[in-house]
Amino acid sequence: MASDAQSALRSRVAVRLEAASGALASAAADLLLIPCCEGESTLPGDAKPLSKPLSPLLTDRRERGEFTGKANQLSLAEPQGVAAARRLLLVGLGKRSAVTPETIRQAMGKAAGMIKHLGVAHIATPLFGSGLGKMTPSAAAQAQAEGLLLGLYDFNLYKTEARPPVKSLTRATWVIGDRRLLPVAQAALERAGIIADAAMLARDLGNHPSNVATPSKIAELALTLSGELKLRCTIMERAEMERLGMWALVGVARGSQEPPKLIVIEYKGGHAGEPPIALVGKTITFDTGGISIKPSENMEQMKDDMSGGAAVLAAIQAAARLKLPVNVTGFLPATENMPSGTAQKPGDIVKTLSGLTIEVINTDAEGRLILADALTYATRVKPKWLVDIATLTGACGVALGKHAIGLLGTAPGLVAALKEAGEATGERTWEMPLWEPYYDQIKSSVADVQNVGGRYGGVITAGAFLSKFVGETPWAHLDIASTAWIDEPRPYTPKGVTGVGVRLLIEFLSRQRAGKATLRPGRRAPAGKTKPARARR
Ligand code: BES
Ligand code: MN
Ligand code: ZN
Repeated sequence: MASDAQSALRSRVAVRLEAASGALASAAADLLLIPCCEGESTLPGDAKPLSKPLSPLLTDRRERGEFTGKANQLSLAEPQGVAAARRLLLVGLGKRSAVTPETIRQAMGKAAGMIKHLGVAHIATPLFGSGLGKMTPSAAAQAQAEGLLLGLYDFNLYKTEARPPVKSLTRATWVIGDRRLLPVAQAALERAGIIADAAMLARDLGNHPSNVATPSKIAELALTLSGELKLRCTIMERAEMERLGMWALVGVARGSQEPPKLIVIEYKGGHAGEPPIALVGKTITFDTGGISIKPSENMEQMKDDMSGGAAVLAAIQAAARLKLPVNVTGFLPATENMPSGTAQKPGDIVKTLSGLTIEVINTDAEGRLILADALTYATRVKPKWLVDIATLTGACGVALGKHAIGLLGTAPGLVAALKEAGEATGERTWEMPLWEPYYDQIKSSVADVQNVGGRYGGVITAGAFLSKFVGETPWAHLDIASTAWIDEPRPYTPKGVTGVGVRLLIEFLSRQRAGKATLRPGRRAPAGKTKPARARR
């Protein structure tokens, strides 16, 4: 039977993050993190006073080649009489000039990987980035806390055997010399907690198998979160999809016993009447390919084909928790893609909500089918910007490998904003051209458009296809097919589902300036106010 945690779909990393003033040496914790820059014998920032007492140890480890401060290097020590904490963990930050929020997240993620096996309950650390690079203390604290939490993540809800008998980390204290930085640091830690938790929510959703994370279950979760956060959430059922004419979405769901859901979730942190940002996330809870069935090798990974939808849901609930001054509406078209006697077949033609007809050449190109209807539906809220995020094409991995999100769109300002958010969060994007000649590849001889574009330029032809369903709305597309899952663990990302896109979307939303107030009936807009209107609750 599913445990409570399973039915809530969440695995928990619960660490209290706090900022405190004082000296590192006297911090009462089980383990003290000591940052170290490559090629420097003086420790950076607030760790500086420990340079001298630790000098023999550091020299010894350097000479033995054990620890030089190289990025992501770790070394455990138990020196006597240096600090109140019994154990120290030396953490390499790399060359001072090369330290960025991403290198801090990585170093901290690596440290977290070790910490979770040490059985320590409480760690203390200085602010890693202080005085390094161009980082503000706030950005440094946020990066450090994100790296810690994301690095602690493990998906083990289904392991019934007793876990290793170690205490898990419950508390992390940032010991900061300059008292004036405490409020800024505390706020950054809180922000990081919300953001990392959102990314972990998306990881959980993707890691849960498709027999648990069904469209209905995800809809239920969206409703629960909306209840907690006072968001508006509606679940559209199949009958309504049919009534509206979303035959592309309904067509994909035809092969499955699980009912499809179109989850719509709204956060209003901006002015009333201000056009929302619309986020659409592909939510295929399992992609067998349908009648154009996939080979069985690695097919189990297709439980993550809802990573786009998970990212949208996670980002919106985070926007609400962060009280971002922006209106956002999320759309999650959710269904399985299954083969069966009722499944749609290659050659079928479906009419979409937009009125355009699609020839379904390949039932495995199902993401663009469900997105076609969801995108058109999303244009009805008259969004300022429309963004979709989807594990859309295997071609994305061929083109970009596993380190870049495919990006394309019709609005240069929007594309640029997404690119910047990607750089800031380490979830980097790479733009592809949406040129006119590519559209020839998706011409159908019998319908308005066909759902595959042949061997070449698969990311682009998929994007070209989507663009036909957004009308005049400024739109961009993020293809996360090659980044949503990794087999080789990274410093702050274990093997499996990565939760990619969540931090990018939150950063993108955070950078939205509060828009112009528009007049509401019977009430004047708050003219000249610089502070954005608070969310209505
Ligand atoms: N969900 C897949 C894309 C995918 C493939 C994600 C591999 C992650 C890893 C998508 O629905 C799909 O099957 N796309 C097809 C499109 C093709 C039939 C035009 C693909 O990429 O093979
Ligand atoms: Mn597919
Ligand atoms: Zn798919």
